[in-house]
Amino acid sequence: MPCPKFLLSWSTFFEVISSPAVTGIVGQDVVLPCQISTGTQPANMEVQWKRIIQTHIETVYEYRAQTGQDVPGQKYQGRTTLLKDGFTSGNVSLKLKNVQPADRGTYSCIVKSNEWSADAATELQIAGW
Ligand SMILES: *[C@@H]1O[C@H](CO)[C@@H](O)[C@H](O)[C@H]1NC(C)=O
Repeated sequence: MPCPKFLLSWSTFFEVISSPAVTGIVGQDVVLPCQISTGTQPANMEVQWKRIIQTHIETVYEYRAQTGQDVPGQKYQGRTTLLKDGFTSGNVSLKLKNVQPADRGTYSCIVKSNEWSADAATELQIAGW
């Protein structure tokens, strides 16, 4: 008999917490915060950072724990790092290098495990231009 969904263990569930807004300075690096509420890394974690531009969604960065595969979005090659030091404590914050005025906008952090997914958004504001 297949295992019914409602028998998932408590540790299956998590929330994702970000900051409503962060300010980047042109030419410098900025950290887009994202923290998993359980303070741990879910099994088979997948992290996606997406940017919401008006009506379309652009991939900024993707990471799959199962394969250890890192995939920066097309326009973000060499500009993004997921700070893996924090993974064991559920910190999946993204570093965006050399911030430009065009980077201003809404970024969404999506964390998926085998059975669950959650997301949070942050607004990147740009100072110094
Ligand atoms: C998560 O990692 C980033 C980058 O290392 C750091 O700036 C931030 O303070 C960390 N957040 C928490 C909650 O530890």
